[in-house]
Amino acid sequence: MKNIDSKGHVTGKSIYLDDISIIKGTRFGVVFDSPIAHGTITSVDYSKALALPGVVTILTHEDIPGGNQIGGIIPDEPLFASTEVHFVGQPIALIIAESDQIAFKARKRIEIEISKKSVIVNPREAKQNDQLIFPPRTFELGDMKNSWKDCAHIFEGQADSNGQEHLYIETQGAYAIPMENGHIRISSSTQGPTSVQKTTANILGIGMNKIEVDVVRLGGGFGGKEDQATPWAVMAALGVFILNSPVKVVLSRLDDMRMTGKRHPYSSDYKIGLSNDLKIMAYETTFHQNAGASADLSPAVLERTLFHGTNSYFIPNVKMTAYSCKTNLPPNTAFRGFGGPQGMFVIESALSHAAEELGISKHELQKNNLLKNGDEFPYGQIADGVELNSIWQNMESKFHIETVEKEIQKFNSNHSNVKKGFSLMPISFGISFTKTPMNQARALVHIYTDGSVGVSTGAVEMGQGVNTKMLQIAAQTFSIDPKHIKLESTNTTRVANTSPSAASATADLNGKALEKACNALMKRLKSCAANHLNVSLVDVTLKNGLIYTNGNKTDLTWDQLVTMAFLKRICLTENGHYATPTIHFDMKKEKGHPFSYHVYGLALTEVTLDCVRGTYDFDAVKIVHDFGKTMNPSVDFGQIEGGLIQGMGWMTMEDLRYNDQGQLLSNTLSTYKIPDIYSVPKDVIIEPLETEGNEMAILKSKAVGEPPLMYGIGAYFAIENAVRAFNPNFNSTFDAPFTHEKVLMGLYGSIDFE
Ligand code: MTE
Ligand code: HPA
Ligand code: MOS
Repeated sequence: MKNIDSKGHVTGKSIYLDDISIIKGTRFGVVFDSPIAHGTITSVDYSKALALPGVVTILTHEDIPGGNQIGGIIPDEPLFASTEVHFVGQPIALIIAESDQIAFKARKRIEIEISKKSVIVNPREAKQNDQLIFPPRTFELGDMKNSWKDCAHIFEGQADSNGQEHLYIETQGAYAIPMENGHIRISSSTQGPTSVQKTTANILGIGMNKIEVDVVRLGGGFGGKEDQATPWAVMAALGVFILNSPVKVVLSRLDDMRMTGKRHPYSSDYKIGLSNDLKIMAYETTFHQNAGASADLSPAVLERTLFHGTNSYFIPNVKMTAYSCKTNLPPNTAFRGFGGPQGMFVIESALSHAAEELGISKHELQKNNLLKNGDEFPYGQIADGVELNSIWQNMESKFHIETVEKEIQKFNSNHSNVKKGFSLMPISFGISFTKTPMNQARALVHIYTDGSVGVSTGAVEMGQGVNTKMLQIAAQTFSIDPKHIKLESTNTTRVANTSPSAASATADLNGKALEKACNALMKRLKSCAANHLNVSLVDVTLKNGLIYTNGNKTDLTWDQLVTMAFLKRICLTENGHYATPTIHFDMKKEKGHPFSYHVYGLALTEVTLDCVRGTYDFDAVKIVHDFGKTMNPSVDFGQIEGGLIQGMGWMTMEDLRYNDQGQLLSNTLSTYKIPDIYSVPKDVIIEPLETEGNEMAILKSKAVGEPPLMYGIGAYFAIENAVRAFNPNFNSTFDAPFTHEKVLMGLYGSIDFE
């Protein structure tokens, strides 16, 4: 089935927040934010801004009737700063005007004085100053202390990965409308409608039942709208609460880039020990997560870093410690992979380091240590359904790793100013929210009397194609034409207490809930048919909108059966509830079984380096990916391509920069570059590893949203491999992204021109 949104998207008819018709009397909000990264507000003068014609009001912390608090995991973040500011871009007030142009103009007239305090932007410096968001966490396996003496080779080093701007096409925004009796309806571009509802209720000091949040679709989220879509929606609702007129708050691109958090930069230390036969015997690492000025989702992100610290390898002795470091940057947040990629980058760096010093190919080392069934993850879960060996074999037989390596060597010996490089990047990504209670979902299904169907779930469509998958599930379970089914918007009044659409688990959780609802309705309809046709229930089947008894077609159609059931007063509505079974995790012991399953895969990346300019082009990325049984190849292949390119961007060209005063330097689309059609690999080949699939995955089709991002890490090591072909003295610093400038330094940095 095609993506149900494809026509709407290419014809421009799909509805996003900004396509919602504006009600007369709507006011527009623009956020006034801190120009200083750390300090105490000594005075703010709004009088000149308020005097501007068309300015309606300016809301500050003093206008909040409930609690001035938006922290989701830890209550450490105000909606509006009152006295202290902790990052450049921190909201202080909302200017509400008749148009956003007027509000922008008014913003320039606000006079603020801040007495500056010292600014920390570096996570290691924060740790030295005891600036931690919460106490460090450690995952351990085996006997770390005594394991080093068994190691024939030990290597130590540092690996840093930078942050990443989400750059969803649709910026953050919300539109809130007053309803009767003080109720408020919010349209929000959010991955977490329930978070918006709950936080708004808290801020306004009213019940969640008075707030309705509705989401049609997002122009991209990538994790950036899991938590950080909330403040703008809350501000709009606060405006409604105070003015009783509709209020729309949409961030301009520059405001969005300055005010919102990004992927967490990490600075990490590693120590890796190998035996004589090149088995990894010991691995110790310390992660320093740059959390920004408040917790946001950092605790959960940090946890996922620990869960993915050993990537696709079995290591018997492991100790990983992670610090969430408080700095004066905007609070960093969820970004596709959710800390997993940052953890994986470190072990891949350690393996590259080891391979380089031992003078062997890194892929031999990788292959020699792949995780297999029965191995224990450092968090206690026993690996099963591991596909890494068959994936590796598939890669060898389909894409000939040895031949690629030989041809690259041959090319490199024939060329002096152009060099090629390659890398292999295996992935193992755990599926489920790491916080067990979040793994639940609901779906509401109505069959109308004419046989048409309406489906509501907690899933938010953000481009990942979840609505298409939901439609498929309903159509397949009812065995009716998908065109009789309508996917409703995601709405907190229809489906309540939802987890955000995140963790790649949206289709599994909501799909399973939907499947249960549809199955319950099917059972009722079948028993109605059995009564009518005077046969037993087991003899009735429904197929393609027709009713069969013992495999024989009857005259009864789906539409007629539905009408008949209604006249017999059978309920044609069902609410399905699903909670992932078997998962648990004990944070005191740091052990458990947090994931319902893992997604596995392997990417082979090939790059050509211009050794005069330091520029590079990716020739190909060849992927063997574990889909289980993909329920929608075109949607799933699209997720692989998009995730891969996004990961490659993070590793190569996306150069996020703050100065030491916490000001974002890469603050525009001209200074922050993401991959475009010219920088993607010439060839992306995806080879599905079709397996029996996993029962825990919806229709045995494994989650696909985040895992492919981590294939992009291969780009870094392919470039490294090519740089080394030119400059054998190159000392890897493992400092992503590997920009053209860094490549040039790597090519010539250690050469003595004398
Ligand atoms: N794909 C598109 N087109 N747009 C997005 O915003 N978000 C990613 C991924 N793929 C995203 C995307 C992230 S961060 C996650 S967690 C998953 O989709 C969420 O959707 P899923 O749970 O349905 O996979
Ligand atoms: N992944 C994504 N989002 C989350 C998670 C997770 O594991 N936990 C809480 N929010
Ligand atoms: Mo995705 S980072 O879990 O929204």
